[in-house]
Formats: sequence, structure tokens, C-alpha cells
Amino acid sequence: MRGETPSNILIYGKTGTGKTACVKYVTRELEKVSDRSPLKVKLVYINCEEVNTKYRILATLANTFLERLRRNSNELPDSVPMTGWPTDEVYKCFFRAMDSERQLAVIVLDEIDKLVLKSGDEVLYHLTRMNSDLMNSKVSIIGISNDLNFMNYLDPRVRSSLSEEELVFPPYNAVQLKEILEKRARISFMEGVIEDGVISLCAAHAAREHGDARRALDLLRVAGELAERDGDEKVTVEHVRRAHEKIEQDKMVEVIRTLPTQSKLVLYSIVVLSERMPRSIVSGEVYSVYRELCSQAGLDVLTQRRVGDLISELDMLGIISARIINKGRQGRTKEIKLNIHPTQAMAAIHDEQLMTIDTLKLSRQLTLV
Ligand SMILES: Nc1ncnc2c1ncn2[C@@H]1O[C@H](COP(=O)(O)OP(=O)(O)OP(=O)(O)O)[C@@H](O)[C@H]1O
Ligand SMILES: [Mg+2]
Repeated sequence: MRGETPSNILIYGKTGTGKTACVKYVTRELEKVSDRSPLKVKLVYINCEEVNTKYRILATLANTFLERLRRNSNELPDSVPMTGWPTDEVYKCFFRAMDSERQLAVIVLDEIDKLVLKSGDEVLYHLTRMNSDLMNSKVSIIGISNDLNFMNYLDPRVRSSLSEEELVFPPYNAVQLKEILEKRARISFMEGVIEDGVISLCAAHAAREHGDARRALDLLRVAGELAERDGDEKVTVEHVRRAHEKIEQDKMVEVIRTLPTQSKLVLYSIVVLSERMPRSIVSGEVYSVYRELCSQAGLDVLTQRRVGDLISELDMLGIISARIINKGRQGRTKEIKLNIHPTQAMAAIHDEQLMTIDTLKLSRQLTLV
């Protein structure tokens, strides 16, 4: 607001440490204060998860500034289309629209790593050197990321310019999480419905998971939803325990969805077996079923050893628990237990390439296993 050239800021920290929330809050305050100052601060917030090409970033910026322009001030268009123009035309439009007023533009690029990974650093190159060409306005970039690897993909000049100032958001501790939860609980719950210990337990869970405030809030919300669904009058620690379980299960479903087809097929085999076997299942059985399913789905059959590796991976992901047991002269085998409900696992496995599988036909063969 004193008219000096502001620094660019790079903010990083693990997920749920309040980066987005804080930046939005502070920039909103800044905009408010600047209403009373001669130099207006104009905030542009872009989430690069959604807007992640050079063209779309520039078009969004151009349109933001064109919109605020008093018309007929010059020969600029009303707006820029979201596709189709030469990129340098879009840039020129943005540049001129912004520079036609004395103002400071604070451009927040949230999840900036997504932009760099998808489209490289060209647009950042332009944005970080605009200040030397602008006559009336100034620009400051705030980049936010929870993954610093993207820095390796930046031109050294962009890197140093982008991180003129760096800000690290450390994880919240349990006391801070408790404070955040208490404040939010006062808004979202009736007075007195949250039992003692509930908020502390949510905070403790989330503190253990790298101080993720989003996780803490999710836990409290899901605990509340479970209490409501059961028609209970109070949210108890038992609801929190169940909420924790539910969130863990949902996370697992997400992991299963993104598995490669071969791993899904191995899991498929385990699910089919555990649905039909009262006793625990062993890796040899999984392989027989897997082979059968492979031929039904028309996929290449992997070796038993490779399937063993995939089973270990599923174990590592927590989807199954595998335990090595010695069977004396018959050698060693793995005893496998599914950690997720079979129906839920099946729904998550859903895969185009596995549509041709006919489990009925399999049932007949299973009796032979
Ligand atoms: N200090 C705080 N006070 C109140 N609520 C907070 C605070 N910090 C975070 N939150 C809340 O916690 C949730 C997660 O925070 P936020 O979205 O800012 O995380 P983030 O660091 O941007 O995470 P990501 O890297 O995943 O984008 C949001 O609902 C936010 O409102
Ligand atoms: Mg964020």
C-alpha cells in the first residue's frame, strides 16, 4: 500500500496445515484495508488443480481485470474467450487491463505444483518478471504447495523469484487442533450435545496424522453424522471411534480404485475366496483363482512369484493382512485376511477390463480348490 514492489511468496506445508485458509483470510483482510488507501489491492485466487494450463491461467487473469475496467477507457475487448486466441494476445490483454489502473495485484496460485507438473513454468516465468515492464501497477505472486518436488522443474530464475520469501506451515499440534475444533463445534452443533473427551479425541487422532486440521474436522463431522443417523442425543467417544474406522475404510476404497488392473484382479481373487471360505485363505489358493479369473478376463497370467509380490503390496497398503506360516515339509505359505468388507471391496475394484468375469462359473471351480 506504500507503493513499493512487493515480494513474491512461496508457502508450503503438509496437507491440512491451514495454508489455503490462512492465505484466503489474510488476503481478504488486505483487500478490505486497501479500500481506504490510495493504492487498491486486487486479489485473484486461482486453484491450479482446476486451472492448470498457461492459456487458462492468463485468460482467467485477463478476464478478472477486464471485468473491473471502466469501459471505453481504451480499445480492449470486454473479455477473452477461454480457448482459441494466440496465448501472447491473451497475455497482452491481461497486461494492459491490469496496467490501465494504479493497483497492486496479488495473484494466489494455490496447488501451484499441479500447474508446473501439467504445463511447465512458462507462465510463471512471465508473471514473475512483469513488474519490470508494468508502469502503473504492481504484481505479487503467492504460490502455495504441499509438495516441494515441483521446484526441481523450475528454471533457476523462476525459482529464486518465486521464493523471494518462503513461509513454512508446520503441522498443528493437538492443543491447536482442539482450539480449531472447539470454535467450529460452537457453530455447527447445538450446545451441550458433544460429550466430554470427544473433541480431545478427534484432536489426538489428527495430531498423530501429521497435524491435519482437515482430518480433525472430518472426524468430528462424521462422528456427528453417525450420532444423528442413530438418533442419539449426544456425540460420544464411541461415535468418534466409529467415525475413525469409517474414514479409514473410505480411504482404503480410494486406494483400491486406483490400483492397476492386475493388482485389482489379485484382490478380486482374495475377495471371492474369503466370501466363500469360512477359514483363512492361503496364497496358493489365491493363485489358482487368479489364474482362472485371468483367462476369463483375457489378461496375461503373471507368474506365481509376481502375484506373491502383488499380495505383499496389498498387505503394505493395509487392504489385506498376510502372515507367513510354515507348513513343515510342504514349505512356507502366506495366510491372508481381508481388512475391508467384501462387498465394499468389490464395489471399489470395479474395472472395465474385468467386466467379463463370471463369478458363477468360478463358483463351480472353487469347490475344487
Ligand atoms: N487456523 C485455523 N483455524 C480454523 N480452521 C482452520 C485453521 N487451519 C485450517 N483450518 C481448517 O482446516 C481445513 C484444512 O485447511 P486448509 O484447506 O487451509 O489446508 P491446506 O494447508 O490448504 O491443505 P492442502 O495442502 O491439502 O491444500 C479447512 O477446513 C480449514 O478451514
Ligand atoms: Mg489448500
